[in-house]
Amino acid sequence: MQHSTSEKTRVDPSNPETIPKFVDELPIPAIAKPNRMVNEKYPYYAIEMKEAKHQFHKFFPETTIWGYNGMYPGPTFHVKKDETIKVKWMNRLPSQHLLPIDRTLHGTSHSPDVRTVVHVHGAHVAPDSDGHPDAWFTRNFKIRGETFKQKVYEYTNHQMGATLWYHDHALGITRLNVYSGLVGFYLIRDPLEEELQLPSSEYEIPLMIQDKSFNADGSLFYPENTNPPAEVNPSVVPAFIGDTIVVNGKVWPFLKVEPRKYRFRLVNASNTNGYTLKFENDHPFYQIATDGGLLSEPVKLNSLALEPAERADIIVDFSTLNGQSLILKNSNDEGDLGFIMQFRVVLPLSEKDMSKIPSSLCSDEPLTEEMATKTRLLTVGATIDQYNRPMLLLDHRMWDDPVTETPSLNSVEIWKFINTTPFAHPIHVHLVQFKILHRRPFNLDRFLEDGYIQYTGPAIEPNDNEKGWKDTVRADPGMVTSIIMRFENFTGDYVWHCHILEHEDYDMMRPMKVIE
Ligand code: C2O
Ligand code: CU
Ligand code: CU
Repeated sequence: MQHSTSEKTRVDPSNPETIPKFVDELPIPAIAKPNRMVNEKYPYYAIEMKEAKHQFHKFFPETTIWGYNGMYPGPTFHVKKDETIKVKWMNRLPSQHLLPIDRTLHGTSHSPDVRTVVHVHGAHVAPDSDGHPDAWFTRNFKIRGETFKQKVYEYTNHQMGATLWYHDHALGITRLNVYSGLVGFYLIRDPLEEELQLPSSEYEIPLMIQDKSFNADGSLFYPENTNPPAEVNPSVVPAFIGDTIVVNGKVWPFLKVEPRKYRFRLVNASNTNGYTLKFENDHPFYQIATDGGLLSEPVKLNSLALEPAERADIIVDFSTLNGQSLILKNSNDEGDLGFIMQFRVVLPLSEKDMSKIPSSLCSDEPLTEEMATKTRLLTVGATIDQYNRPMLLLDHRMWDDPVTETPSLNSVEIWKFINTTPFAHPIHVHLVQFKILHRRPFNLDRFLEDGYIQYTGPAIEPNDNEKGWKDTVRADPGMVTSIIMRFENFTGDYVWHCHILEHEDYDMMRPMKVIE
């Protein structure tokens, strides 16, 4: 495709109608390289968070972003199951934030504006390496939050092979730090997966989906206040949805593929937006893994819903589409956000495709309701703050209230999320991978009146592609969503929260302490 200079001058980054789609090739994030070995045993990585320039689109001016090693997305970690690595996450960011800070939120009134802490989402790690929201640090570790313990994090990777991702988690500004670009992939490889002959190497591609808005000069746009404006300024917004789709750092990119099978590792790394992914012409695909690793068997799909922080590994077979192009769409949206990216089946087949979609993937030990020693009823709700803004809460409590979720080591618990709001919330629990038991409709009016859960229909099983290990679950409105999990190996302070980042920051996050 040829683009004239006049086309370039017509592009206004703040107006999605002027932005041509599918003109940039999909970038594949670089692989993180260990700097050295510790005691000849542990790969040691030093990663710097830096301000940098980034080209979001061929016809945009450069955009200032924050990135791990100055890259957006950051470098991809490839680690082996059960192999320990150490990472020193370093803050080399400037002292001024890129985006407007609301100083009324938890943790923001007396702390430096630019502070960071890194969380590997989905990781089974010790609390001091989990990236607790109060374990933040400023440039060169100069100022540190209350729960800061150590500069070098240790990841033992003692869990299934899975598509994890890492992102910033600093208290009260997570939404801003993530939106600025502090995100990356963390892939755990299980040598057993190789025997399955899934599409691999250049046929295994991570796709990180985010939505962004830009100012006319190409800088990142993030709202300073709500509409109508709240009396505090800047103010957190109850939801933020951008007006463009960015995949691996490019606005509406394309990827050239061979007529064969590919494995895509999908992450929804958006602040608020959920997607229902669907190929043009309803081209089918197979989901093989959820947040925490392989499903027991592949699930054939025509569409796939991904809420913020959810992941899915899928296999797409392009072999019948030689010479064609195929758009990956988002059926939740009729406008520009209805387009994710384009696949062009234009590369010659380099060798016979020997990869497989195995009929069974992994055997699974079930968690059953009888194993649980504790059931927690947790309300997902909303209230109004002193400035008349909506404030979302878990269990009617704020982040700063004393810890109430204190599971015992090695116990199995059931948590029931009772959603009293009119929209879905992706609820995430640190440390564990859980199973979804079911979702069950209940009488909301009755519940709001006297707190009694009167079910109004039978329990609904999770979809087949939600039956694997999860760390984030969609809690639907009007439903009680039940999950079951075991707390293993580590005790100490963790968190659980809604993964809509505007909710997490205000005030849908709670401490969780695993006790002996
Ligand atoms: Cu993806 Cu507590 O985070
Ligand atoms: Cu997490
Ligand atoms: Cu929420």
